[in-house]
Order: sequence, then C-alpha cells, then structure tokens
Amino acid sequence: MSAPVVVITGALSGIGRATAVAYARQGADVVVSGRRPDPGKELTGELEALGGRALFVRADVRVEDDVRDLVDQAVDRFGRIDVALNNAGTEGRSAPITAVTADDYAAAFDTNVKGTLLCLKHEFRVMRERGGGSIVNVSSVYGRMGYPEIAVYAGSKHAVIGITKAAALEGAAHGVRVNAIAPGFTRTGMYERVTGDEGTREAVNSVLPMHRPGTPEEVADAVLFLGSGRAAYITGQTLTLDGGLMAGWPLFPGA
Ligand SMILES: NC(=O)c1ccc[n+]([C@@H]2O[C@H](COP(=O)([O-])OP(=O)(O)OC[C@H]3O[C@@H](n4cnc5c(N)ncnc54)[C@H](OP(=O)(O)O)[C@@H]3O)[C@@H](O)[C@H]2O)c1
Repeated sequence: MSAPVVVITGALSGIGRATAVAYARQGADVVVSGRRPDPGKELTGELEALGGRALFVRADVRVEDDVRDLVDQAVDRFGRIDVALNNAGTEGRSAPITAVTADDYAAAFDTNVKGTLLCLKHEFRVMRERGGGSIVNVSSVYGRMGYPEIAVYAGSKHAVIGITKAAALEGAAHGVRVNAIAPGFTRTGMYERVTGDEGTREAVNSVLPMHRPGTPEEVADAVLFLGSGRAAYITGQTLTLDGGLMAGWPLFPGA
C-alpha cells in the first residue's frame, strides 16, 4: 500500500507533533496544522528530512473557513486524506462550579468540541467521496471520569466521545472509521501547565500506577495503529492510554 496521507490538527507540539514525526518516519505524506506559521514551516522541514512529504496549513479549529481550507489544501496537494487526527485542544481554566464563567465554557468547548465537529464534517466530506478513511479524535481520561474543578474540560472531553460514537455509525457503511483516544497524563506542554511545578509533578506521578506519565510517542503509536489497516474492524471505540490509571484504585498501601 502507498504511504498514507495524514492530517493532524494541533500538530506543532505535544501529541500532535509526536504523531506527525512517527508518520513521517514511515514515509507518510503529513499535513500539519496549527495557529503559528513560523514553527509550522520549521516542522515541515523536519518532517521532510525524515522521509515523507509535508505541508503546513494555518488553521484555528474554531473557525469553519480555516478547517474547510485545511482539508481542501490537503486534498489539492496529496489527492486524498487517509487518516485524520483531530488533536487540537485546550485545558481551559480550572475553577469550582460556582466560579465557572460563560467565557470558560466557550474557551474549552469551542476548541475541543466545535473544533472536533468541524474537522469531522470536512474530513467526512472528502473521505466519503474518495472511499473511506480513518479518523481519530482526542478525548482524555477526563472524558471517562470527573475531577474537582475541571467540569468544563471534562464535559468537553466527554462530548468528544459521544460525537465519536455517532460519527462512527454514520461513517461505517462508507468506509470511514471514527475512533477516539483517551490519554491519561502525558508529558507535553499541557501536562507541564496543569501540574505547575516539579513538586506537584512528583506527587502526581507517585499515584500513577506506573509512577510516570505517558510519553507523546506512546500515544502516537496508538494513533498509528488505529489509523492503519490492522484496525480495519475497529470503529466507534475509545482507546484509553493511561498506564492503568482507569483500571482501578489501589485502596490499601502497598497494593
Ligand atoms: N497532555 C496530557 O496529559 C493530555 C491528556 C489527555 C488528553 N490530552 C489532549 O491531547 C491533545 C493534545 O494536547 P497536548 O497534551 O499535546 O498539549 P499541547 O502541547 O498544549 O497541544 C495542544 C495543541 O493544540 C493547539 N490548539 C489549541 N487550540 C487550538 C485552536 N483553537 N486551533 C488550532 N490549534 C489549537 C495548540 O496550539 P497553540 O500553541 O497555538 O495553542 C497546541 O499545539 C489535546 O486535545 C488535549 O486535551 C492531553
């Protein structure tokens, strides 16, 4: 099979960037998207040095014209889209319920939920026309459980899982698979911002089953699997990548 054509949003850092690098190492044609043109162009140079072809398209996933343009430019350049990683996301502002504002809601939901919906809409448009593809949406372990003071973020990531299931049913008969990944703590800029300082990071890591966060490369490996033909009968699923965090809670010390 020829190298896949892959579109990644939020590709300039963290999980998106690691996935772009992993695909480039496989010789894929990678369309990387983000809001910052200079690092975007630098990244395409790095990806091409690894073996694949690469294109940067500036897009804010909250803006439908940007998302339409991203998908259209990918098809103009490479002829189709085989895999899409809808990864752009924000943790937003943490606040107790009584302090949540409408702006907090918009900041998280516009990127995490509306952005995912707009990407799905335009990716479906071209994938259905060209006989199929694989879409991976990025949720979170907080799309499967709650935590105090992150109701807005957790709500947005729960929404991503619901959207994934509904879209999977619409795509199934057209060869378009739609799955989600639910990373746990993953060592990226978001993890650094949310944990704040090294002391907090050590405290968080000590309660994780593997005593460490995941790496963006480990998340990328799962995306490559879901995007590939080896996952041909997997759709509508959410793959949790959390080093065992959601498997249960060891209640007794030393367990
Ligand atoms: N790291 C974790 O522990 C963790 C755990 C579970 C889920 N996730 C999810 O994983 C995804 C990637 O996050 P990350 O951990 O890799 O953190 P990250 O490095 O902060 O990546 C987030 C990326 O999304 C981009 N982005 C944000 N808003 C955007 C918008 N409106 N339009 C286009 N791009 C936008 C950011 O670009 P800018 O630089 O322009 O802001 C950034 O490149 C997110 O959806 C996040 O919720 C992360």
